Amino acid sequence: MLHRLQYGQVPPKPHTTLYHDQKLAFEHCFTRQGFDGAYAMLYHRQPPHWIDSQEEIGRHPGWSATESHARPLRRHFLSGQLVNGGSAFLGRELLLSNADLGVWFAVADQPDPALNCNADGDELVYVFSGKGQIYTSHGILDYRAEDYIYLPRAVLHRWIPAEPTRLLILEGRSWIDIPANFRNAAGQLKMDAPYSHRDFRAPQWSEALAQDQPQTVMVKRHDHLTRQHYHHHPLDILGWDGQLWPFAFPIRCFQPRTGLVHLPPTVHTTFVGGGFVVCSFVPRMVDFHPQAIPCPYPHSSVDCDEVLFYVEGNFTSRKGVGPGSLSYHPAGLPHGPHPGTYEASIGSKETNEMAVMIDTFKPFLPTVRATALEDPAYQQSWVEKGSQA
Ligand SMILES: [Fe+2]
Repeated sequence: MLHRLQYGQVPPKPHTTLYHDQKLAFEHCFTRQGFDGAYAMLYHRQPPHWIDSQEEIGRHPGWSATESHARPLRRHFLSGQLVNGGSAFLGRELLLSNADLGVWFAVADQPDPALNCNADGDELVYVFSGKGQIYTSHGILDYRAEDYIYLPRAVLHRWIPAEPTRLLILEGRSWIDIPANFRNAAGQLKMDAPYSHRDFRAPQWSEALAQDQPQTVMVKRHDHLTRQHYHHHPLDILGWDGQLWPFAFPIRCFQPRTGLVHLPPTVHTTFVGGGFVVCSFVPRMVDFHPQAIPCPYPHSSVDCDEVLFYVEGNFTSRKGVGPGSLSYHPAGLPHGPHPGTYEASIGSKETNEMAVMIDTFKPFLPTVRATALEDPAYQQSWVEKGSQA
């Protein structure tokens, strides 16, 4: 939800006639927060709501019940053990869940068989590895490793991997957006925001979008799937304009901040959602006070569950984690550096760590599927034995 774009054919004014091949086009108003938020208007050759038939598929195959009883507090899940393959939308698996956010993971090696309509929420997807394209109703979005991909709720889309693609998928049940305090009164990103408009990639518009695309739409609502069959291409869009569109943002375009002494994790905030924030840790210079301790201090952020997805580099505060690790530390307890790492960080000048952090206000519950990926040794890694970590 950045700035207004316009592609293809649109009439001079909204809600007025547009003819294509002597036929009236159908305006499709795509709105947020009722009719008060960002919106886009798409112009279809055929009515977007007329379908031939539909069939109920049942629960999404990657849905998994959450744990039903208390488990150890600090958790470590190894997403690298997921090798399920399949398509990005149908092959994804739910690992952590609460009422505001679902954390899914996918290892996609096939195109989605249908266009997808995720009616359960906005998606913010981190591309851990791989590359390809996403066909959307707003155009074709190229993706590659280290991109965040934003897919607004219910925007039709289809993942087409060019190579096997590992995705961390955050499904915000109410909304995901850019923090309001990053914008000026004119709606532009402020000059002290951690990114600029130029860092975001928009979909590439093409009127040929509908060619060779499926005429089925897989709708996900309440984690159940329904397949709708159309008598026309659902991406038969002549043009669109508006401020609501999918985008890509490379995590390395996030501008990190460094202070005289350690700055709080809030300086890494990249996106916000209803009930959660998403932060990016990217390679950066560290604190420059002569006596600074660059490693994060132990802290009790007592209202938030914290999840860290490790991407690459050497984490100054944690040991025994690596690329693909998903650590989970629940609210109400102090957490912080692993034994030995706090002291070891003194005098360091920079860090090459890269990670995505998710802080939620409602408690997460791991799913049964996540439990099967668990590293049971993580609990013990926090027990200091004598001088040993
Ligand atoms: Fe923390």
